[in-house]
Amino acid sequence: MDVEIENQENQSAKLSNKHSVPSEGGLVSAENRETVGEIEVPNPRMKCRNVEVYYGDKHAIKNVSLDIGRNEVIALIGPSGCGKSTFIRCLNRMNDTIETCRIEGDITIDGQNIYDKKMDVVLLRAQVGMVFQKPNPFPKSIYDNVAYGPRIHGLVSNKAETDEVVEKSLVKAGLWGEVKDWLNQPGTGLSGGQQQRLCIARAIAVNPEVILMDEPCSALDPIATAVIEDLINELKTQYTIVIVTHSMQQASRVSQRTAYFHLGDLIEVGKTEQIFTQPRHKLTEDYITGRFG
Ligand SMILES: Nc1ncnc2c1ncn2[C@@H]1O[C@H](COP(=O)(O)OP(=O)(O)OP(=O)(O)O)[C@@H](O)[C@H]1O
Ligand SMILES: [Mg+2]
Repeated sequence: MDVEIENQENQSAKLSNKHSVPSEGGLVSAENRETVGEIEVPNPRMKCRNVEVYYGDKHAIKNVSLDIGRNEVIALIGPSGCGKSTFIRCLNRMNDTIETCRIEGDITIDGQNIYDKKMDVVLLRAQVGMVFQKPNPFPKSIYDNVAYGPRIHGLVSNKAETDEVVEKSLVKAGLWGEVKDWLNQPGTGLSGGQQQRLCIARAIAVNPEVILMDEPCSALDPIATAVIEDLINELKTQYTIVIVTHSMQQASRVSQRTAYFHLGDLIEVGKTEQIFTQPRHKLTEDYITGRFG
């Protein structure tokens, strides 16, 4: 067969749920590492195709294809070291900062290749913002934490405009009421949960389309966690959210789709309820029933 045609056929086989054959009680066997489930969604915000990530010789992400839908919350789950952070960091080129890291495959946002040489990475990271595990406010005032991005991106040209963006972003992040009288106080003086909402306000301030969250609640108590989860539910009406979490309860509460990773492979993706109640792959079932991870 012509190599080109063969490649195309391989590609379409991969995208059409890869002909996985159920074997164990209707489940796809643990040995089969092809992705099970619907990697494609209609009119996606971001599209990842055949993504491979290496740290030197270490193959951390293996041929992962996945769409990120508009205004959806998609949860990335899986055992420690399976590649969740590596994958989420590909989506705004955060891995560029790691010298040994090499990425292959295609990732687009609204059809534009984010790894294109002409892509402005600073703009990309505004478009695809990130909230980290540990809240990391700048050593600046609450006001300046939020105003920083709009200022460097030239989104505001005077104090009145900056005031407006700061207030709107803090309102959307559910923090305005708690900080409006203390805007000149250092951001680092807030509680952990407040700091995390400040980081969300900082991401929102530059009009992102996608917000990446890598275990945003793992340093927070249950009350602060509930506040962030409520916030995620509100934010999804305007933004697309990709969240890494170790908590299956959290994934169930906040996400509409869930992707299960295992040793660098995307094993299964589907509606969150289906993943947690009727997994189709043995490895997903083992994970959600607590047999490993
Ligand atoms: N900077 C790095 N240099 C080399 N190897 C790395 C680096 N970061 C991650 N890795 C390796 O890549 C693999 C995936 O790691 P990653 O941090 O993406 O996993 P994870 O699913 O986020 O894990 P966790 O749940 O513990 O956060 C692991 O084997 C890890 O050791
Ligand atoms: Mg991680």
